[in-house]
Amino acid sequence: MEKHNWLIIKIVKVTFELTASLFKILYRHVKYSAYSLIYTYKEHYGERKFGIDTCESYLYKDDLSLHKDGHPYYATPYYVIECMIAYLKLNSGDVFVDFGCGKGRVALLVSARQIEKVIAIELNPELAAIARKNSTLFKLSKTPITFINADAATCEVNEGTVFYMFNPFKETTLHTVLDNIKKSLSINPRAVRILCFKPLFSHVLDKQDWLTFEGEIGLTDVSVWRSK
Ligand SMILES: C[S@@+](CC[C@H](N)C(=O)[O-])C[C@H]1O[C@@H](n2cnc3c(N)ncnc32)[C@H](O)[C@@H]1O
Repeated sequence: MEKHNWLIIKIVKVTFELTASLFKILYRHVKYSAYSLIYTYKEHYGERKFGIDTCESYLYKDDLSLHKDGHPYYATPYYVIECMIAYLKLNSGDVFVDFGCGKGRVALLVSARQIEKVIAIELNPELAAIARKNSTLFKLSKTPITFINADAATCEVNEGTVFYMFNPFKETTLHTVLDNIKKSLSINPRAVRILCFKPLFSHVLDKQDWLTFEGEIGLTDVSVWRSK
Protein backbone atom coordinates (compact mmCIF):
# COMPACT_ATOMS: atom_id res chain seq x y z
CA MET A 1 0.00 0.00 0.00
CA GLU A 2 2.81 2.41 1.00
CA LYS A 3 4.66 1.56 -2.23
CA HIS A 4 1.48 2.33 -4.16
CA ASN A 5 1.15 5.77 -2.49
CA TRP A 6 4.75 6.55 -3.25
CA LEU A 7 4.15 5.75 -6.93
CA ILE A 8 1.13 8.07 -7.08
CA ILE A 9 3.11 10.90 -5.46
CA LYS A 10 5.91 10.38 -7.98
CA ILE A 11 3.47 10.45 -10.94
CA VAL A 12 1.80 13.66 -9.65
CA LYS A 13 5.21 15.27 -9.14
CA VAL A 14 6.44 14.39 -12.66
CA THR A 15 3.13 15.53 -14.21
CA PHE A 16 3.37 18.82 -12.32
CA GLU A 17 6.97 19.40 -13.42
CA LEU A 18 6.14 18.60 -17.05
CA THR A 19 3.15 20.97 -17.04
CA ALA A 20 5.26 23.74 -15.48
CA SER A 21 7.94 23.30 -18.16
CA LEU A 22 5.31 23.36 -20.91
CA PHE A 23 3.84 26.59 -19.54
CA LYS A 24 7.30 28.15 -19.38
CA ILE A 25 7.94 27.32 -23.06
CA LEU A 26 4.47 28.57 -24.03
CA TYR A 27 4.98 31.81 -22.08
CA ARG A 28 8.32 32.44 -23.83
CA HIS A 29 6.69 31.91 -27.26
CA VAL A 30 3.71 34.14 -26.48
CA LYS A 31 6.04 36.86 -25.13
CA TYR A 32 8.27 36.65 -28.22
CA SER A 33 5.30 36.71 -30.64
CA ALA A 34 3.74 39.67 -28.82
CA TYR A 35 7.06 41.52 -28.95
CA SER A 36 7.45 40.78 -32.71
CA LEU A 37 3.90 41.97 -33.39
CA ILE A 38 4.39 45.23 -31.47
CA TYR A 39 7.75 45.77 -33.20
CA THR A 40 6.30 45.20 -36.71
CA TYR A 41 3.31 47.40 -35.94
CA LYS A 42 5.53 50.23 -34.65
CA GLU A 43 7.80 49.99 -37.71
CA HIS A 44 4.89 50.22 -40.17
CA TYR A 45 3.18 52.90 -38.08
CA GLY A 46 6.42 54.93 -38.20
CA GLU A 47 6.70 54.57 -41.98
CA ARG A 48 3.10 55.71 -42.46
CA LYS A 49 3.37 58.50 -39.92
CA PHE A 50 6.42 60.02 -41.59
CA GLY A 51 5.53 59.03 -45.17
CA ILE A 52 8.92 57.49 -45.85
CA ASP A 53 10.22 54.12 -47.01
CA THR A 54 13.07 53.04 -44.78
CA CYS A 55 12.20 49.43 -43.88
CA GLU A 56 14.52 46.67 -44.95
CA SER A 57 13.06 45.04 -48.03
CA TYR A 58 13.25 41.32 -48.58
CA LEU A 59 13.16 41.98 -52.32
CA TYR A 60 16.21 44.20 -52.17
CA LYS A 61 19.60 42.48 -52.01
CA ASP A 62 22.30 44.73 -50.63
CA ASP A 63 25.41 44.67 -52.82
CA LEU A 64 27.97 43.43 -50.32
CA SER A 65 30.81 43.57 -52.84
CA LEU A 66 30.68 47.33 -52.33
CA HIS A 67 31.77 47.16 -48.76
CA LYS A 68 33.87 44.14 -47.85
CA ASP A 69 34.55 45.74 -44.47
CA GLY A 70 30.94 46.76 -44.08
CA HIS A 71 27.55 45.43 -43.05
CA PRO A 72 24.34 45.44 -45.09
CA TYR A 73 21.37 47.69 -44.48
CA TYR A 74 19.18 47.31 -41.41
CA ALA A 75 17.20 50.19 -40.01
CA THR A 76 17.37 51.32 -36.40
CA PRO A 77 13.89 50.77 -34.88
CA TYR A 78 11.79 53.91 -34.49
CA TYR A 79 11.45 53.58 -30.71
CA VAL A 80 15.25 53.39 -30.36
CA ILE A 81 15.66 56.63 -32.35
CA GLU A 82 13.00 58.33 -30.20
CA CYS A 83 14.77 57.27 -26.97
CA MET A 84 18.11 58.35 -28.39
CA ILE A 85 16.88 61.81 -29.41
CA ALA A 86 15.27 62.31 -25.99
CA TYR A 87 18.54 61.30 -24.29
CA LEU A 88 20.80 63.49 -26.44
CA LYS A 89 19.15 66.85 -25.66
CA LEU A 90 20.56 68.24 -28.91
CA ASN A 91 21.03 71.99 -29.14
CA SER A 92 21.35 74.52 -31.96
CA GLY A 93 25.14 74.09 -32.14
CA ASP A 94 25.07 70.33 -32.67
CA VAL A 95 26.13 68.62 -35.89
CA PHE A 96 24.81 65.05 -36.08
CA VAL A 97 26.65 62.56 -38.29
CA ASP A 98 25.12 59.21 -39.26
CA PHE A 99 27.87 56.91 -40.54
CA GLY A 100 26.19 54.50 -42.97
CA CYS A 101 22.80 56.23 -43.06
CA GLY A 102 21.18 53.58 -45.29
CA LYS A 103 17.75 54.82 -46.32
CA GLY A 104 18.13 57.78 -43.98
CA ARG A 105 15.70 57.01 -41.15
CA VAL A 106 17.91 58.21 -38.27
CA ALA A 107 19.16 61.29 -40.13
CA LEU A 108 15.59 62.28 -41.06
CA LEU A 109 14.18 61.96 -37.56
CA VAL A 110 17.11 63.91 -36.10
CA SER A 111 16.57 66.62 -38.74
CA ALA A 112 13.15 67.24 -37.20
CA ARG A 113 15.09 68.90 -34.36
CA GLN A 114 16.51 72.39 -34.67
CA ILE A 115 20.25 71.80 -34.73
CA GLU A 116 23.08 73.17 -36.88
CA LYS A 117 23.40 70.37 -39.42
CA VAL A 118 22.80 66.69 -40.09
CA ILE A 119 25.34 64.79 -42.16
CA ALA A 120 24.25 61.45 -43.63
CA ILE A 121 27.03 59.33 -45.11
CA GLU A 122 26.28 56.21 -47.16
CA LEU A 123 28.60 54.07 -49.28
CA ASN A 124 25.95 52.31 -51.35
CA PRO A 125 24.73 54.66 -54.14
CA GLU A 126 21.34 52.93 -54.37
CA LEU A 127 20.68 53.41 -50.65
CA ALA A 128 22.04 56.96 -50.77
CA ALA A 129 19.56 57.76 -53.56
CA ILE A 130 16.68 56.28 -51.53
CA ALA A 131 17.75 58.38 -48.52
CA ARG A 132 17.70 61.53 -50.67
CA LYS A 133 14.26 60.62 -52.02
CA ASN A 134 13.00 60.02 -48.48
CA SER A 135 14.17 63.49 -47.51
CA THR A 136 11.83 64.95 -50.14
CA LEU A 137 8.94 62.97 -48.65
CA PHE A 138 9.69 63.81 -45.02
CA LYS A 139 7.88 67.01 -44.12
CA LEU A 140 9.14 67.59 -40.57
CA SER A 141 12.74 68.63 -41.22
CA LYS A 142 13.88 71.76 -39.41
CA THR A 143 17.56 71.19 -40.07
CA PRO A 144 19.20 70.72 -43.46
CA ILE A 145 20.70 67.31 -44.20
CA THR A 146 23.93 66.97 -46.16
CA PHE A 147 23.92 63.61 -47.96
CA ILE A 148 27.32 62.19 -48.85
CA ASN A 149 27.63 59.09 -51.02
CA ALA A 150 31.12 57.91 -49.99
CA ASP A 151 33.12 55.59 -47.78
CA ALA A 152 32.86 56.95 -44.22
CA ALA A 153 36.60 56.35 -43.77
CA THR A 154 37.35 59.02 -46.38
CA CYS A 155 34.97 61.67 -45.03
CA GLU A 156 35.98 64.79 -43.21
CA VAL A 157 34.44 64.91 -39.74
CA ASN A 158 35.68 68.26 -38.40
CA GLU A 159 32.19 69.57 -37.72
CA GLY A 160 30.49 66.60 -36.04
CA THR A 161 29.53 66.78 -32.36
CA VAL A 162 27.38 63.62 -32.27
CA PHE A 163 28.32 60.55 -34.28
CA TYR A 164 25.92 57.64 -34.75
CA MET A 165 26.67 54.12 -35.90
CA PHE A 166 24.50 51.05 -36.24
CA ASN A 167 27.31 48.65 -37.06
CA PRO A 168 27.98 50.15 -40.49
CA PHE A 169 31.41 48.60 -40.78
CA LYS A 170 33.90 46.23 -39.23
CA GLU A 171 37.02 46.91 -37.18
CA THR A 172 39.42 48.18 -39.87
CA THR A 173 37.11 50.96 -41.06
CA LEU A 174 35.97 51.68 -37.50
CA HIS A 175 39.62 52.29 -36.47
CA THR A 176 40.11 54.73 -39.38
CA VAL A 177 36.86 56.57 -38.64
CA LEU A 178 37.73 56.89 -34.94
CA ASP A 179 41.24 58.14 -35.84
CA ASN A 180 39.64 60.72 -38.13
CA ILE A 181 37.39 61.95 -35.31
CA LYS A 182 40.31 62.07 -32.87
CA LYS A 183 42.43 64.08 -35.35
CA SER A 184 39.51 66.44 -35.98
CA LEU A 185 39.52 67.37 -32.28
CA SER A 186 42.92 69.02 -32.66
CA ILE A 187 41.71 70.94 -35.74
CA ASN A 188 38.39 71.92 -34.12
CA PRO A 189 38.52 71.34 -30.34
CA ARG A 190 35.04 70.40 -29.10
CA ALA A 191 33.15 67.87 -27.03
CA VAL A 192 31.90 64.91 -29.06
CA ARG A 193 29.67 61.96 -28.33
CA ILE A 194 29.65 58.65 -30.16
CA LEU A 195 26.52 56.48 -30.08
CA CYS A 196 26.46 52.86 -31.21
CA PHE A 197 23.34 50.73 -31.50
CA LYS A 198 23.97 47.04 -30.72
CA PRO A 199 27.73 47.64 -30.94
CA LEU A 200 29.69 44.64 -32.18
CA PHE A 201 33.03 46.28 -31.54
CA SER A 202 32.58 48.16 -28.28
CA HIS A 203 36.03 46.94 -27.21
CA VAL A 204 37.52 49.15 -29.95
CA LEU A 205 35.80 52.22 -28.51
CA ASP A 206 36.61 51.21 -24.93
CA LYS A 207 40.31 51.12 -25.82
CA GLN A 208 40.39 54.71 -27.15
CA ASP A 209 42.34 56.79 -24.62
CA TRP A 210 40.49 59.97 -25.72
CA LEU A 211 37.05 58.49 -25.07
CA THR A 212 35.19 57.55 -21.92
CA PHE A 213 32.15 55.28 -21.69
CA GLU A 214 29.12 57.28 -20.63
CA GLY A 215 26.64 54.40 -20.37
CA GLU A 216 23.70 52.78 -22.13
CA ILE A 217 20.47 54.51 -23.02
CA GLY A 218 17.71 52.78 -21.04
CA LEU A 219 15.47 50.29 -22.90
CA THR A 220 17.66 50.45 -26.00
CA ASP A 221 20.89 48.76 -26.98
CA VAL A 222 22.56 52.12 -27.57
CA SER A 223 25.94 52.66 -25.92
CA VAL A 224 27.36 56.14 -25.55
CA TRP A 225 30.98 57.28 -25.38
CA ARG A 226 32.13 60.87 -25.03
CA SER A 227 35.40 62.67 -25.52
CA LYS A 228 37.44 63.26 -22.33
C1 LIG B 1 23.09 48.55 -40.32
S1 LIG B 1 22.88 49.77 -41.59
C2 LIG B 1 22.43 51.19 -40.62
C3 LIG B 1 21.52 52.17 -41.34
C4 LIG B 1 21.12 53.42 -40.57
N1 LIG B 1 22.24 54.09 -39.96
C5 LIG B 1 20.11 53.11 -39.50
O1 LIG B 1 20.53 52.92 -38.35
O2 LIG B 1 18.91 53.02 -39.77
C6 LIG B 1 24.59 50.06 -42.04
C7 LIG B 1 24.76 50.90 -43.29
O3 LIG B 1 26.14 51.24 -43.43
C8 LIG B 1 26.46 51.28 -44.81
N2 LIG B 1 27.93 51.17 -44.93
C9 LIG B 1 28.69 50.06 -44.85
N3 LIG B 1 30.01 50.38 -44.97
C10 LIG B 1 30.06 51.73 -45.11
C11 LIG B 1 31.14 52.66 -45.27
N4 LIG B 1 32.41 52.26 -45.28
N5 LIG B 1 30.83 53.97 -45.41
C12 LIG B 1 29.54 54.40 -45.40
N6 LIG B 1 28.49 53.57 -45.26
C13 LIG B 1 28.74 52.24 -45.10
C14 LIG B 1 25.67 50.09 -45.40
O4 LIG B 1 25.49 50.24 -46.78
C15 LIG B 1 24.36 50.21 -44.59
O5 LIG B 1 23.43 51.00 -45.26
